[in-house]
Amino acid sequence: MLTVLEIIKRTTEFLAGKGIESPRLNAELLIGHALQRKRMQLYLEFERPLAEAELETIRPLVRRRAQHEPLQYIVGETDFFGLRLKVDRRALIPRPETEQLVEHVVALFSSEPPASVLDLGTGSGAIALALAKHFPQAMVVAVDSSEAALALARENAASTSLTERVQFQLSDWLAAISPREFDVIISNPPYLSDVETAETALEVHGFEPIGALAAAEEGIADLARIIHDSPPYLRLGGVLALETGISQHAKLAALAQSAGFVRTDSKRDLAGRDRFVFAFR
Ligand SMILES: C[S@@+](CC[C@H](N)C(=O)[O-])C[C@H]1O[C@@H](n2cnc3c(N)ncnc32)[C@H](O)[C@@H]1O
Repeated sequence: MLTVLEIIKRTTEFLAGKGIESPRLNAELLIGHALQRKRMQLYLEFERPLAEAELETIRPLVRRRAQHEPLQYIVGETDFFGLRLKVDRRALIPRPETEQLVEHVVALFSSEPPASVLDLGTGSGAIALALAKHFPQAMVVAVDSSEAALALARENAASTSLTERVQFQLSDWLAAISPREFDVIISNPPYLSDVETAETALEVHGFEPIGALAAAEEGIADLARIIHDSPPYLRLGGVLALETGISQHAKLAALAQSAGFVRTDSKRDLAGRDRFVFAFR
């Protein structure tokens, strides 16, 4: 009979052969998930022989990862800004860069918390729920054009006990939102060009919703629409906070100026690439 350690080693080799990055880590996380053990607990069981029934729970998960399905979809959850969120193919897997976007907004409002927040393209609900959690007085509206994503986001609002302060709405960006004065509009919209989308890892372009990744006009169409349409929905002094592609900032700053924003600020990610735009009304 094979032991836990032997299965970890075999799985690592198998995943490495399929071109999976960090194969040992992936093997441990998948096997841990199948056996309902934390990684550290697995280490204490290295010499334990595995029953056939246990192997049967591991195999399908490993097969899925070998086909490059993202680990988070297979284990069905991810952590975002201190929240444990359910993730599956209905929505994009929230990224560390997006946590940075949330951190910037938290810093901007450190002295005077926002009363109202609008999250455009909420996907799993990550940004909306993180801000609702961080600002306990804030009312949050979260929209998406995907019914499937909204269903997932609602499940996450329920599991994080934030349903009372986060309202979800089906909308093509701002089209279904009645004008009102939000303190913050935040969005991580699709911003990749078709070429950039094709160049993403198979995990991304093969499994995540295409409508969450790619935008027309070299990736800028959705950002442009959000910038153009947002001002009537922001109070004076309010901010539009955007995650963006890496070579769009000059254009976005010009668009913000012509939309009537008084000032824009551009910020980089940890790799030093332009990634976030803040436009102040
Ligand atoms: C990059 S994903 C971001 C998801 C989530 N906010 C996050 O950061 O993990 C973009 C989201 O925008 C949504 N979206 C795309 N076009 C839209 C539109 N016209 N109106 C509203 N949402 C849209 C997609 O369905 C997707 O959930």
